[in-house]
Amino acid sequence: MQQSIFIVLDGIDGSGTSTHSKLLAGFLSLKGLKTYSTQEPSNSDIGKLLRTYLKNDKIPASTDALLFAADRVLHYNNDIKEKLEKGYTVISDRYLESSIAYQSSQSENISVEWVLDLNKFAGKPDLTIILDIDPKMSLARKQHKVLDKYEETTLLDKVRQVYLNRAKDEGYFVIYTDDIIEIVQSRIQNIVIEKLVQKGIQFKK
Ligand code: TYD
Repeated sequence: MQQSIFIVLDGIDGSGTSTHSKLLAGFLSLKGLKTYSTQEPSNSDIGKLLRTYLKNDKIPASTDALLFAADRVLHYNNDIKEKLEKGYTVISDRYLESSIAYQSSQSENISVEWVLDLNKFAGKPDLTIILDIDPKMSLARKQHKVLDKYEETTLLDKVRQVYLNRAKDEGYFVIYTDDIIEIVQSRIQNIVIEKLVQKGIQFKK
């Protein structure tokens, strides 16, 4: 019986993926599951390079797409896969859908198909939940911070649309996050619990 599960929370900047990943990890630990939290860009050298490139608008969108895919393949094969094999519940704050939404929104020459192809060596999550918010609301929350190059409304409107289209095509759950944090988190928890039950994963009731 499978005792591990790979969960991804994804969505536009400011949609709450980091906050809700942390809360979800705490909840699943209380349910008695061995939980491993991770994020993308990852902590690898490629991930660190990407964090500097996020502040640099001279980097071609295709270079970003290639590097995010390289980071992801490494992240999956040298980290996530190992944890899953040891029976951990893995929660990743962002994964493949970030590349599809952000990189394909940046250039007409970057198709969803190409991004999917680049990422074909990265394992698939068991559950992807898209956190959705209006970019005007999400960027308002970040006003005090130095913003990354993708953090502007016109681009994020496009990125959001790709997330929503993908969710429709792939059957991902979409949760609107401009609401009381506990309510949003409990919606996420309900979806995860349903998936655990479906997969026959045992947890404390
Ligand atoms: P984010 O996850 O918001 O990290 P932080 O909270 O530290 O700012 O920032 C990561 C940024 O990287 C975000 O703007 C989305 C972008 N990104 C991509 O464009 N493609 C990807 O494949 C990933 C994983 C992230």
